[in-house]
Amino acid sequence: MSTDTATLEIVDLYASYGAVPALHGVNIRVMRGQVVTLIGANGAGKSTVLKCVSGLLPALRDSVRLFGKPVGGLPPNELVAQGLALVPEGRRLFGAMSVRENLEMGAYLCEGKSVIEEGVAYCLTLFPDLKAKLDVPAGSLSGGQQQMVAVARALMAKPRILLLDEPTIGLAPAVVDQIANVVREVCKNGVDVLLVEQNAEIALGVADIAYVLESGAVVAHAPAKELASNDEVRKAYMGL
Ligand SMILES: Nc1ncnc2c1ncn2[C@@H]1O[C@H](COP(=O)(O)OP(=O)(O)OP(=O)(O)O)[C@@H](O)[C@H]1O
Ligand SMILES: [Mg+2]
Repeated sequence: MSTDTATLEIVDLYASYGAVPALHGVNIRVMRGQVVTLIGANGAGKSTVLKCVSGLLPALRDSVRLFGKPVGGLPPNELVAQGLALVPEGRRLFGAMSVRENLEMGAYLCEGKSVIEEGVAYCLTLFPDLKAKLDVPAGSLSGGQQQMVAVARALMAKPRILLLDEPTIGLAPAVVDQIANVVREVCKNGVDVLLVEQNAEIALGVADIAYVLESGAVVAHAPAKELASNDEVRKAYMGL
């Protein structure tokens, strides 16, 4: 793969829920080594973009390329096998199962106990707080710790691109910082990231490139630092 091949390319993505359109020609690109963020208000269509990319919702035309190849119509498990992992809105952990079991579920496509053990060990270096929690039910953890498990479970699949849907929503500032640091760290370790956030302040602090979604369409994209100093963006999304 040449270095200028996009990890993820979304070209002219249209999607609808029944007869109700949700996305109107969205274009987003994630290149190797990048954290890209997609910010936007409640209902803008951010989760819909992630659902289309991860095979949970059909796009209305073939609009998604992963590692240079079209992947439209592939089921979610096939996309995971190709190196794409999603941390969904609301985490969707198996609450009655232990943290360790949740992590193992994330590695269901990986073969071998040692690979899984290595994965768990890596996740614990990212989230040391989970060390003492491996054998307790995931549902008994705090919201922040549950979000850590959700991110760790996605990483257990050894993805090359990680999609995160509002991973910091409702979390205490210290946990938000921890998640933000992990996003940078995994990117440094070779996993590209598409981060969906309503919290523009965090997102623009973490990302290299940012896209702004309004009513199902991208209305701006630029280096994150540039958008963070744009007055309109600051007013609309950062309450400043
Ligand atoms: N399952 C669904 N059925 C019907 N309409 C839906 C469904 N999910 C989302 N929508 C609609 O599609 C549009 C985009 O929703 P989406 O969930 O993608 O927004 P979002 O940007 O992720 O919002 P939030 O920040 O609140 O998570 C909204 O108008 C929403 O009401
Ligand atoms: Mg959403």
